[in-house]
Amino acid sequence: MKGLILSGGRGTRLRPITHTSAKQLVPVANKPILFYGIEAIRDAGITDIGIVVGETHKEIRAAVGDGSRWGVEVSYIEQPDPLGLAHAVLVSEEYLGTDEFVMYLGDNLIMAGLKELVASFRERRPNSQILLARVPNPNQFGVAELEGDRIVRLEEKPKTPRSDLALVGVYMFDRHVFEAARSIKPSARGELEITDAIQWLIDHGRRVDPTIVTGWWKDTGKLEDMLEANRMVLDRLAERREDGVEVDARSEIQFKVVLEQGSRIINSRVQGPAIIGRNTTIVNSYVGPFTSIHYGCRVENSEIEHSIVLEESSVLDIGHRIADSLVGKGVTISRAERKPRVLRFMLGDHSVVGVL
Ligand code: G1P
Repeated sequence: MKGLILSGGRGTRLRPITHTSAKQLVPVANKPILFYGIEAIRDAGITDIGIVVGETHKEIRAAVGDGSRWGVEVSYIEQPDPLGLAHAVLVSEEYLGTDEFVMYLGDNLIMAGLKELVASFRERRPNSQILLARVPNPNQFGVAELEGDRIVRLEEKPKTPRSDLALVGVYMFDRHVFEAARSIKPSARGELEITDAIQWLIDHGRRVDPTIVTGWWKDTGKLEDMLEANRMVLDRLAERREDGVEVDARSEIQFKVVLEQGSRIINSRVQGPAIIGRNTTIVNSYVGPFTSIHYGCRVENSEIEHSIVLEESSVLDIGHRIADSLVGKGVTISRAERKPRVLRFMLGDHSVVGVL
């Protein structure tokens, strides 16, 4: 069996972060989301993993490499245009051959892992197995209608959903999916939808088994989902202090906090669950629960909680507490003492700022 991770797409709902960076590389608890997918597939006993890449292929290749770090063999498959998930399957046909495979959307996070799912697919041998989860907003997903444990119908982002069962971004297939993907027509959004390909399998007498996921799962396409994923992962991390960490006598570290290599906490309070990245310095500050601060950052005379800060950014002398935020790479947020006392910004396209 092979793994196929889809890591193309434009990530429009996470702009401006995704103007300069692939959405699958945004860190959750200081680790790119994509890495959780690679680990889940590896932990399910699969060592051949194809990653479908688009515009951001260089960055993905640089971050993942050949997969040896995880003990897997990664191959890259180029999808020239983001023409849909079923299109991604078609461009991967040569790589996948006649092997069965698990397809994983690179921005999804599934807490329970894939071990049992892959094992049950191997044992039951349906043509496809899909995962479903109950969501409050099914119109933003592919939606399944079931009768008992049989799938009657699948619909991509229906205006009036027939159930609250969303398709999770993990699917298992055998080679029949290629015929299905070739037979369907593009949807209203101009994409070959995997949802339609699975419906085609059902309509042509193939066996598609549903599994309802009861554990936590998230499609991290939007800021709120990203922050929630960060919360869930941080909550499960064990406290850890790596080499070269400095916490001075005036600082307080409370509850579960991960201090990565060379991080320094000076006259500050860090209230976990939280992670402070490699060579990041926190001075005279408060870092509150559910906060991930990546490597090479500086937080000084400031307060921040329930947020994600990407690498090499600075938060300096901010008199108000920052919360519910996603701060990109190399960003500086600081107090300007220059007169007149005005708010000064240099913001990229699609930035969102809330001021008091
Ligand atoms: C895709 C699928 C959708 C599925 C979702 C899960 O949506 O088309 O059926 O429910 O992933 O994350 P997209 O993220 O492309 O909008």
